[in-house]
Amino acid sequence: MSVWAQEASESEKKSSCITCHLEMGDELAAPIEGMKEDVHDRQGLSCEDCHGGDPTVGFDGDMEASMDPEKGYIGIPKRTEIPQFCARCHSDPNYMRRFNPRVSTDQLSRYKTSTHGKLLEQGDTKVATCTDCHGVHGIRTAKDARSAVYPLNIPETCGQCHADEEYMQDYRIPTNQIEEFKQSVHGMALLEKGDQAAPACNDCHGNHGANPPGAPSIAFVCGQCHLNNSELFFESPHKEAFDEMGLPECETCHGNHAIEHPTDAMVGAGEQSICTDCHEEDSKGYVTAVAMRQQIEKLKSQMSLADSLVTKAERAGMQVSEAQFKLNDADDALIKARTTVHSLSVSQMSAVTEEGMKLSEEALQTGREALAELQFRRKGLAVSMVVICILAIGLYMKIKDVDKKHPLRTSDKLT
Ligand code: HEC
Ligand code: HEC
Ligand code: HEC
Ligand code: HEC
Ligand code: HEC
Ligand code: HEC
Ligand code: HEC
Ligand code: HEC
Ligand code: HEC
Repeated sequence: MSVWAQEASESEKKSSCITCHLEMGDELAAPIEGMKEDVHDRQGLSCEDCHGGDPTVGFDGDMEASMDPEKGYIGIPKRTEIPQFCARCHSDPNYMRRFNPRVSTDQLSRYKTSTHGKLLEQGDTKVATCTDCHGVHGIRTAKDARSAVYPLNIPETCGQCHADEEYMQDYRIPTNQIEEFKQSVHGMALLEKGDQAAPACNDCHGNHGANPPGAPSIAFVCGQCHLNNSELFFESPHKEAFDEMGLPECETCHGNHAIEHPTDAMVGAGEQSICTDCHEEDSKGYVTAVAMRQQIEKLKSQMSLADSLVTKAERAGMQVSEAQFKLNDADDALIKARTTVHSLSVSQMSAVTEEGMKLSEEALQTGREALAELQFRRKGLAVSMVVICILAIGLYMKIKDVDKKHPLRTSDKLT
């Protein structure tokens, strides 16, 4: 058990660190305000658990007695020492389990594998250490919306350095990741819709360095969430070809920070096709691209024809809900067909689009029948109107005829 653990129970007592630092005011008192919301404080830890020293002496103003190196006072760590400073607890499973039985204690060992950790070890103090991402006095769990590592706050936290051109000028990397991310499908989903299923920076890069960029496992990162695309890609001819050429997998076609909503125009031989970037006319890749696009377009036009007929029938008050269900299912097939682009197999796509074609043909048929029925009902209505008119005219003539034969007398009218 670490010395820190033994001291934890003492922290309940009145602390001279707090008493004196409050008196000193300003910067020396600021940590106390911050600590009120800190996870460490909630666990009963206090100043001396991190900084060392003796909080039971020094109430008389003797700061040396309290902040005494003999009593373990270590003061504030240098930037290069911060990981070790935090890790003396966070890498000690025996100590940490007393507070939380399921806590992980791998932050430091992972951090050492990241670019940040490696460069810090070489003495580069501009990289991120524990306190740059978590703060100092006022550290919160990631679940707390005010935490610097809460998913929605992550881009800002990384952006303190990565979006600061001047700060990053010594390094040969761009400073546009945050800007690009904000406009990407992922950034919009996370930051605008608050959809936490979408990745923040750390979901792709790892919290502490599990998946540093450049590692072959970045492909698995996309695949963790986009399972189907990943499986199809891995079975496709691109897998081996991209590996051989040293091309990143998903990123080659979709990018990384500026990922956009893909469109059908990305497949085929048109101007926006990405297939033609690598495949020459008449090659197998090219022919496949064209065939795939045709499948998708054929299904889309069949669906839109069916949809317009069904909608027309519905507006006229016909019961067409079954056809609408079929069109919804056809739409699901279209979505699946777009995923099968990643297989590069026209037959695999056809299996899906044909199902969609069948459903939209059935919907189309229902739409046609509904409109025919409507036509029939309208004709029926017209015929009955004519019959009613004829009857009405007949009745009118009859009344007139009777009136002529028996005109009303004035005396009758008065009674
Ligand atoms: C009697 C007053 C007093 C007591 C008790 C006291 N401090 Fe301080 N502390 C100060 C003053 C004054 C300074 C600033 C001057 C200095 O750094 O020597 C300071 C500075 C610090 C610093 C910053 C050191 C640096 O290098 O900038 C830390 C950390 C600190 N104290 C922690 C503690 C802890 C932990 C305790 C309790 C174990 C404690 N203090 C108890 C008065 C006190
Ligand atoms: C979780 C560990 C931790 C706890 C608990 C903690 N500190 Fe600190 N403190 C640090 C670290 C790390 C630094 C250095 C920050 C840096 O360099 O960015 C620091 C810096 C300081 C400083 C230097 C000025 C500053 O704000 O950077 C003072 C003074 C200080 N702490 C006092 C305290 C007092 C008083 C308490 C109790 C109320 C306390 N600390 C609790 C980790 C802690
Ligand atoms: C004296 C031991 C100790 C030191 C030193 C320490 N911590 Fe902690 N820390 C703990 C304990 C105990 C917990 C509570 C564990 C829990 O509830 O999961 C904790 C919790 C945390 C959490 C929240 C974990 C979660 O479950 O979300 C973070 C983040 C954290 N510490 C970061 C730091 C950083 C950064 C430093 C260095 C500046 C540091 N700690 C220094 C003991 C320590
Ligand atoms: C580049 C930013 C960054 C650095 C540097 C960093 N962390 Fe973290 N840390 C995170 C993120 C992000 C999370 C997870 C948030 C989540 O769970 O969504 C996290 C989570 C944690 C947790 C909660 C338990 C866990 O592992 O998920 C602890 C404890 C922690 N960090 C401690 C540390 C310590 C100690 C260091 C220094 C050795 C450190 N962190 C360095 C970003 C960072
Ligand atoms: C305190 C400033 C700072 C913070 C905060 C910070 N970084 Fe960094 N980061 C750096 C510096 C400096 C480098 C070194 C640049 C290089 O690789 O040459 C770096 C490197 C990286 C690299 C490696 C780039 C490469 O060379 O391929 C990645 C990835 C990275 N950071 C991601 C993040 C993420 C994600 C966050 C937030 C969770 C973050 N950083 C927070 C300063 C920071
Ligand atoms: C969807 C996954 C994903 C997300 C989200 C993401 N990145 Fe990246 N990032 C990557 C990939 C992939 C690379 C390229 C890795 C390679 O090829 O070496 C990369 C590269 C980087 C680099 C190296 C320099 C560069 O631009 O190529 C930095 C720094 C970086 N990312 C920081 C961030 C920050 C900060 C965020 C949050 C705003 C973020 N990333 C969000 C996947 C992601
Ligand atoms: C943490 C999970 C996660 C990771 C990791 C992830 N994504 Fe996503 N991605 C999502 C979510 C959720 C959405 C849906 C966002 C929305 O609602 O628009 C999405 C959307 C997309 C879209 C747009 C889909 C569409 O129909 O508009 C593409 C393309 C995409 N991601 C590619 C990637 C690539 C490439 C990577 C790896 C570099 C990656 N994703 C990593 C969760 C993730
Ligand atoms: C050869 C280029 C290429 C590669 C490599 C690639 N994609 Fe795609 N991806 C596309 C095209 C083209 C579309 C658009 C299909 C359409 O809308 O008709 C697309 C669409 C998507 C979509 C939206 C449609 C859907 O399935 O929901 C996601 C998500 C996606 N890709 C993820 C990935 C992931 C994850 C990887 C890596 C495993 C990857 N892609 C690799 C070209 C590629
Ligand atoms: C970054 C370049 C690149 C892009 C973009 C790309 N491919 Fe490929 N593709 C290759 C390479 C390299 C091969 C393997 C060598 C070859 O057969 O041309 C390959 C192979 C293929 C094959 C197998 C060919 C065979 O001979 O068996 C098909 C089919 C294919 N690609 C279709 C597509 C489609 C469809 C797209 C667009 C969605 C696309 N490719 C986008 C580079 C690319």
